[in-house]
Amino acid sequence: MLGIIVTILVAVIVAYAGVELGFVPANADVRPGFLERWLARTSLQATLARQSRGLTDPLPDNTQTLLAGIKIYGENCAFCHGDASGRPTVAGFGFYQHAPTLGRHGVEDDPEGETYWKVTHGIRLTAMPSFGRTLSDTERWQVTAFLKHMDALPPVAQRAWKQLSVRSVPASLLLKRPPLR
Ligand code: HEC
Repeated sequence: MLGIIVTILVAVIVAYAGVELGFVPANADVRPGFLERWLARTSLQATLARQSRGLTDPLPDNTQTLLAGIKIYGENCAFCHGDASGRPTVAGFGFYQHAPTLGRHGVEDDPEGETYWKVTHGIRLTAMPSFGRTLSDTERWQVTAFLKHMDALPPVAQRAWKQLSVRSVPASLLLKRPPLR
């Protein structure tokens, strides 16, 4: 019994000392360790499975919805996720967990409920913000609908999406050369 208590105590002291002495990395420019990746990924998937089930898009499936979603994307998301060119942005690339370039690696295959949940609540341990208190319910479904249909937009919406490249993501925000390392 005493052995167990001493072992636990030593483990707690070592962990505490590790944090206090700077042995637990606080930098954002390396690949996260196995434990951190497992924890973040597993808990996200389990949370999504429990909380996003049954969330269905209440908006009419039309071009107006998509155009509204594109505008919201340009104003709130392109800074990190980039535009139709699929090029990373300086900030999006620099995050610990890069922000995916949605113009290239989109989420069309994900259920809309999952994307809506991520936009509403954000993703813990990453730079993905929660928009539940800054965008209305309708706005979050609009941007979700756009992401869902990004690879098969009607011509008017496709034009608006391409134009966004020029207007909403100033060239200075896009990575100008391949990352240095
Ligand atoms: C400050 C930067 C930032 C902003 C602004 C931002 N995101 Fe994100 N987003 C991220 C990061 C970083 C991730 C990656 C999280 C991870 O690895 O789990 C992410 C992940 C996502 C994902 C999941 C992608 C996938 O492949 O599973 C979706 C969907 C998403 N964001 C949508 C949005 C939308 C929509 C907006 C705007 C309303 C937005 N994001 C704004 C940083 C951002």
